[in-house]
Amino acid sequence: MRLIKICMALLLFTQAALGQESKLAATPPMGWMSWNIMSENPNEKDIKEMADAMISSGMVKAGYQYIFLDDCWQGGRDNKNNIIADPNKFPSGIKSLADYLHSKGMKLGIYSDAAPLTCGGYTASLNFEDQDAKTFASWGIDYLKYDYCNAPEDVETAKKRYGKIAQALRKAGRDIVLGICEWGPREPWNWGAQVGGQSWRTTYDIRDKWLDTEGKGGVGIYNVVDKMAGLASFSGPGKWNDGDMLVAGLHGTKGPSSAFKGVGCTKAEYQSQMSLYSMLNSPLYASCDIRKMDDEARTIFTNAEVIALNQDALGKQAERKIKTDIWDVFVRPLANGDFAIAILNKSASTQNANVNFADLGLTGKYELKDLWQHKVVGKNNKWTGEVTAHETKVFRLKKV
Ligand code: GLA
Repeated sequence: MRLIKICMALLLFTQAALGQESKLAATPPMGWMSWNIMSENPNEKDIKEMADAMISSGMVKAGYQYIFLDDCWQGGRDNKNNIIADPNKFPSGIKSLADYLHSKGMKLGIYSDAAPLTCGGYTASLNFEDQDAKTFASWGIDYLKYDYCNAPEDVETAKKRYGKIAQALRKAGRDIVLGICEWGPREPWNWGAQVGGQSWRTTYDIRDKWLDTEGKGGVGIYNVVDKMAGLASFSGPGKWNDGDMLVAGLHGTKGPSSAFKGVGCTKAEYQSQMSLYSMLNSPLYASCDIRKMDDEARTIFTNAEVIALNQDALGKQAERKIKTDIWDVFVRPLANGDFAIAILNKSASTQNANVNFADLGLTGKYELKDLWQHKVVGKNNKWTGEVTAHETKVFRLKKV
């Protein structure tokens, strides 16, 4: 009897623990990240303005709940070694900012690094994991982006350092999502979930461009998509491949995204990033100045039918079923039994597509809804039509 009771207690404990883990980032986190626009100077005035703009522009309503405060917020440590914010940038402190965001139904992410100093050279968390996690929890932080600058290159150290901060966060008494940001060289999709992360960047920093062919450090939208396409099996609820920032709205304006010839993208390219990141279940975070966002960017970010793919409860990342010189075609199942397909024209000119659903593993006929035109465009077992350069057609398919 006693043994049965102990077993029951153990079972309940395990279920509770598992429940707690899968609750974190059950769908990909969505928000806005400070790095590109504010870089060295994130501050409470601008961040609050951005949060207000997130609300008034309809971004929060569309699901973009988080403000991800990136590097350069730190002001060192106090005489008890507690990490502190730069008092000039955040005179009211981070807790007050978190309270402000929470009062508006939003969440706050923060940034640190698995070394003594961050990429920008600010105070980071190595050997202060427990203390910093407690501080973040006491401030009301909801997400931690944990970078890997100034850390050793080997994979075992990375696993250890990310595991250490994950455990510290779990012990700190608040649900804080952990975003691993080691950029891909140590293949974090192989171990990120195991050590306690909920997402992992798959490439070096994205730039405001479609494709990088020089390989000197800048990646473009399609480089990321191509990388993530091969990683579908690692993704699922609570464990996401992260494609880095959405670049719509930037138009080649200054900021880290403009390095490595990030001169800007066409509307079709910005829209393709949104479509494909939604198909691939990347976290979605805008990076342009939301206070001055143009209608093109707003329309791209707030397409509810495309976002619904990204946030679908099944959490199944699309698989690339066709890859030719011209076409990439992706397909994914959805929680209600529908499917979504995305047809990307990678060439530099308009092309005629002729996609048989049977070639994607989908037999029979489907009602097709074009998720950018927002209308049903036919009932068929195939789709034929024009796709402009770097455009992605996205359809939701309902069996008929
Ligand atoms: C790295 C990350 C970026 C950003 C900067 C901040 O480059 O990959 O996303 O966080 O550091 O210094």
